[in-house]
Amino acid sequence: MAIAVPGLMLPIMLLSLLSMGLAEGQVKSAILEEKPQRSLLEYMQLVQMAENSTNATADPLLASPWFPLYDKITPDNLVTSLTSLFAELDSSIDHLEGSHYASWQDTVDPFEEISDRMNVAWAVVDHLQGVKNSDALRAVVDQLQPEQVRISQRLSQSSPLYSKFEAIRKSTGNWSESETRVLNNLITTAKLAGAALEAAVPEGKSKDEARVEATNRFNDINMQLSTLATNFSNNLLDSTAAFKRLITEKADVSGLPSSFLGQAAQKAAEAGHAGATADSGPWLIGLDQPSYTAVMTYADNRTLRQDVYTAYETRASSGSTNNSPVVEQIMSLRQEQARLAGYSNAAEYLMSNKMATPKTAMALLEELRNASFATAQKELTVLRDFAASQGFTETLMNWDQSYYAQKQQAALFNLTDEDVRPYFAYPTVLAGLHELTARLFNATIVADDGAVPVWDPSVRFFRVYRDGQPKGHLYIDPYARPGEKQQGAWEATMVSQSALLAAPGQKLRLPGAVIVTNQSPPVGDAPSLMTMDEVVTIFHETGHAMQALLTTQTDVTVSGINGIEQDAIEQPSQFLERWPYEQEVIFSIGKHYKTNETLPEELYQKIAAARNYRSGTDVLRQLYFAILDLTLHEQYFPKPGQSFEDTDLFKGVVNKTTALPPIPGDRFLNGFTHIFSGGYAAGYYGYKWAQVMSIDGFAAFEEIGMSNTGAIDKEGLRYRDTILSMGGARAPGLVFQDFRGRPPITAPLLKDEALISNSTATAQLTKAYPNA
Ligand SMILES: *[C@@H]1O[C@H](CO)[C@@H](O)[C@H](O)[C@H]1NC(C)=O
Ligand SMILES: *[C@@H]1O[C@H](CO)[C@@H](O)[C@H](O)[C@H]1NC(C)=O
Ligand SMILES: *[C@@H]1O[C@H](CO)[C@@H](O)[C@H](O)[C@H]1NC(C)=O
Ligand SMILES: *[C@@H]1O[C@H](CO)[C@@H](O)[C@H](O)[C@H]1NC(C)=O
Ligand SMILES: *[C@@H]1O[C@H](CO)[C@@H](O)[C@H](O)[C@H]1NC(C)=O
Ligand SMILES: *[C@@H]1O[C@H](CO)[C@@H](O)[C@H](O)[C@H]1NC(C)=O
Ligand SMILES: *[C@@H]1O[C@H](CO)[C@@H](O)[C@H](O)[C@H]1NC(C)=O
Ligand SMILES: *[C@@H]1O[C@H](CO)[C@@H](O)[C@H](O)[C@H]1NC(C)=O
Ligand SMILES: *[C@@H]1O[C@H](CO)[C@@H](O)[C@H](O)[C@H]1NC(C)=O
Ligand SMILES: *[C@@H]1O[C@H](CO)[C@@H](O)[C@H](O)[C@H]1NC(C)=O
Ligand SMILES: *[C@@H]1O[C@H](CO)[C@@H](O)[C@H](O)[C@H]1NC(C)=O
Ligand SMILES: [Zn+2]
Repeated sequence: MAIAVPGLMLPIMLLSLLSMGLAEGQVKSAILEEKPQRSLLEYMQLVQMAENSTNATADPLLASPWFPLYDKITPDNLVTSLTSLFAELDSSIDHLEGSHYASWQDTVDPFEEISDRMNVAWAVVDHLQGVKNSDALRAVVDQLQPEQVRISQRLSQSSPLYSKFEAIRKSTGNWSESETRVLNNLITTAKLAGAALEAAVPEGKSKDEARVEATNRFNDINMQLSTLATNFSNNLLDSTAAFKRLITEKADVSGLPSSFLGQAAQKAAEAGHAGATADSGPWLIGLDQPSYTAVMTYADNRTLRQDVYTAYETRASSGSTNNSPVVEQIMSLRQEQARLAGYSNAAEYLMSNKMATPKTAMALLEELRNASFATAQKELTVLRDFAASQGFTETLMNWDQSYYAQKQQAALFNLTDEDVRPYFAYPTVLAGLHELTARLFNATIVADDGAVPVWDPSVRFFRVYRDGQPKGHLYIDPYARPGEKQQGAWEATMVSQSALLAAPGQKLRLPGAVIVTNQSPPVGDAPSLMTMDEVVTIFHETGHAMQALLTTQTDVTVSGINGIEQDAIEQPSQFLERWPYEQEVIFSIGKHYKTNETLPEELYQKIAAARNYRSGTDVLRQLYFAILDLTLHEQYFPKPGQSFEDTDLFKGVVNKTTALPPIPGDRFLNGFTHIFSGGYAAGYYGYKWAQVMSIDGFAAFEEIGMSNTGAIDKEGLRYRDTILSMGGARAPGLVFQDFRGRPPITAPLLKDEALISNSTATAQLTKAYPNA
């Protein structure tokens, strides 16, 4: 299943994992030794062919894998399209399972074809749920999802197919590295899906009966988990949208920046308060990311901050949108499922196809926690002192933290988000980002708006070239649309590169991706003006898109992001997000939106100095989420009527990983979409696991020296040809070594976050690699 992961409290999220893979016995490596040699003409023909299917009778969902007819897709015709697709897939699976042959050509190829057909179509449904949600769409998804789950399950869980994959893996004994990874991926996925359940045999039952029973229960759990994930995100979306605070008194919006007040007045006007203005209101405040962040950071009215904070931290925790029972049910089912599959807990089960084990992941988190806890505590003390120096006499609470941090940051660095916004106009930032991808990866990203249908007028369309050759396409959906668009930011690969699935007469099917973010929309004539965090986010998602699009792999199971262990997925994204802090980059993206004046040197110095402001707190916060997630899946076995938040287990995590604990009644988990509806269950640690590799990779460029442009560009191509190209065709640890010449270590990350000194970092590196 394609997973678009919307997220909330973090500037950074992903993602997309489309998974599924060439030819009989002797076929050699699927890796292209050189870039695909497709002429521009060939590509244009291919695109035209897809676009030709844009005719009145064509199926808007299925006519073209590249360019679904977003302007014609409706909830109603989705039902028609998918119903016929499901019937087609069922009969293809019957045929495949019934086949007497087990070979790459007879088994893996058709399996990939079938899976891909489902993945590509359902990716669109997932996508529309994320960006164009509506009651009508939900009703249709409720109706179709059980069938989609049943068919995906049939595919991933088929015992005949599992046996064939095993037989193929054993057969010739000389598969290439990439082919081996394809087979391992198919086999592990099948195992995870319950294709090889080893059921305990109760007395009076035969082994087969027990197996059938276990499989039925396993499937039932999958079905329930799928529904519960949808419940979870719908509850969250609804309860987030339900909070509305209309403010009419100017005094109550004191402190809030005028750019935000413009949006809040626009929202009030849309809600029927005609004539609302930024200056005199009324203003409508919600729990969408821009509102929440603005209030927490700037609102002078402490009661307003407390109200909004409390509403945010308790979203989806009461009434008809309560996620607490959903969370408990999900956890209970995940633990049961893990047991059925032969694992002792959900973390072991969910991590069986990752780089890390629960043990190695926790060890890394603990190493980072140990390095950041004391710093975070000290940062809190310093913040309390600062607040006191501003005449604050109360106890510093959670809703005071961002507010005083903002003031402290302003005092320390004389820098606010509002100082930088005018210099980060969305179109200029995007152009500068695309200059960077051209420089580092020789990847050109060219706008072609209007060439294909989109789902919202604000969506942009781009064609992507590698070394001047067409290489794929990219949609970008930039602005917040509360009510129909999930919060957060993510990348999703809608169509993956594949030789097998190329159009007739073509060598390769090129990939396509979407990037979704939630920045403030343009107000009046001004473009969308971004904060540094928003800049970092678009770089991050572009990192994912580069890996999805620049891949040289031709087997769909391991091309682009597919088949990469999930805890390595955030490597290129967190690598690219480090770049906007570099002088060369920031001056190319930072131009005043009115005057074109380049971001002043002085402002850059402040941004650079502020980068590690409260980094102990930020790192620890991520570790809190990661440790919470891992602990939950490794150690929590729900009891009826209990909430995780009431357990000692939860208190233990809080004690160890927070300097300022959550407020009583906090229901953060009820909004933790990553792990309950986003495919990051027992996987949130992967952000840090991957970031260690990201920053160690970035350090390779720092070691060269950023001003050494020729050498930097060469290093960029090496990065492209290893980490961005190899996809899942080689173990990520080995790919990292191909690039870096050694395994990753934490010292570069800790140094980059100013948690250890340069000399300590050097000492650690020398200790780990005496001969480096
Ligand atoms: C697309 O349609 C146009 C006009 O109908 C036709 O001239 C062209 O050959 C078609 N292209 C392909 C690749 O089918
Ligand atoms: C329009 O689409 C239908 C269904 O995909 C197809 O059979 C027909 O040939 C297409 N017509 C043109 C003019 O491309
Ligand atoms: C296995 O494949 C490799 C590379 O594809 C080749 O060099 C080697 O000779 C093959 N070995 C056998 C036993 O076929
Ligand atoms: C989840 O949603 C379905 C309908 O979509 C509903 O029948 C079910 O009761 C919900 N479950 C929970 C635990 O909210
Ligand atoms: C602060 O906001 C609350 C509502 O959130 C309001 O009742 C109160 O009057 C405001 N106080 C000031 C000083 O503006
Ligand atoms: C924890 O950090 C301290 C220094 O802050 C160090 O002396 C100690 O070895 C670290 N422990 C672990 C397990 O990393
Ligand atoms: C803070 O920066 C602004 C320009 O952004 C400048 O006008 C002001 O003088 C600075 N204040 C201090 C205290 O340095
Ligand atoms: C980069 O791409 C251009 C075409 O856009 C090509 O001419 C050039 O050779 C490529 N550079 C490298 C180093 O491959
Ligand atoms: C800013 O640059 C853009 C593009 O280069 C140009 O169209 C615009 O006229 C410039 N504006 C000013 C005020 O110089
Ligand atoms: C937190 O842990 C410390 C020791 O590490 C212990 O002294 C303290 O009582 C704990 N606090 C809570 C609230 O559990
Ligand atoms: C530490 O190294 C960074 C570059 O890696 C450099 O910018 C910084 O000035 C160094 N700090 C000290 C205290 O030497
Ligand atoms: Zn990401």
